[in-house]
Amino acid sequence: MNETHTHTQTPFFADKQEKLAEILSRYPADGRRSALMPLLWEVQREERYVSEERMRELAEIVGTTATEVKGVMSFYSTYHDQPVGTFHIQVCSTLSCALAGSDELFDFLSNELGIVNGETTADGRFSLQKVECVGSCGTAPVVQVNDTYFERVGRGRCQHLVDALRQGEMPPVWRERGGDTVGAAKAEPLQKPTDVREG
Ligand code: FES
Repeated sequence: MNETHTHTQTPFFADKQEKLAEILSRYPADGRRSALMPLLWEVQREERYVSEERMRELAEIVGTTATEVKGVMSFYSTYHDQPVGTFHIQVCSTLSCALAGSDELFDFLSNELGIVNGETTADGRFSLQKVECVGSCGTAPVVQVNDTYFERVGRGRCQHLVDALRQGEMPPVWRERGGDTVGAAKAEPLQKPTDVREG
């Protein structure tokens, strides 16, 4: 745990009481735990991670334990308990993306950035993480940078992405269908027998 980040923080909502009240007002008094997600999001968005201290703060606000807050966070790749880079690159490694070449993409990114899974570059600009399905399997392989999804990412697009991010720019999301002209990533649809009828 990164102790240097945990002792000197003033409460996150100390100067955001209105925001806090607004979020809590969306839920009935006996359903305060539901406010956890939007509260976590506020912290993650501003601080780029949720420290142990913030977990305790949020737990107190919604009437639960820090352990439970951590448990909730573990279900979502959006939330981090360690600082991530300015550009947090997440490569989906679940089946559809794996079949479409996401391992190769990940290795490419790892080589380019000189970091392995879960690491952040020394300058704090990039972090890299393998994640579970991000819900866009039809356009595999998917790379998520902060909150932006890049779909059908082949080697060429991945290079383009890294180049742009190195310039400090989030490139526009491509929308066209079809594969990458440079990379080897090609989605191979799983063949399913469609006409089998029993009995
Ligand atoms: S398997 Fe990658 S988005 Fe679902």
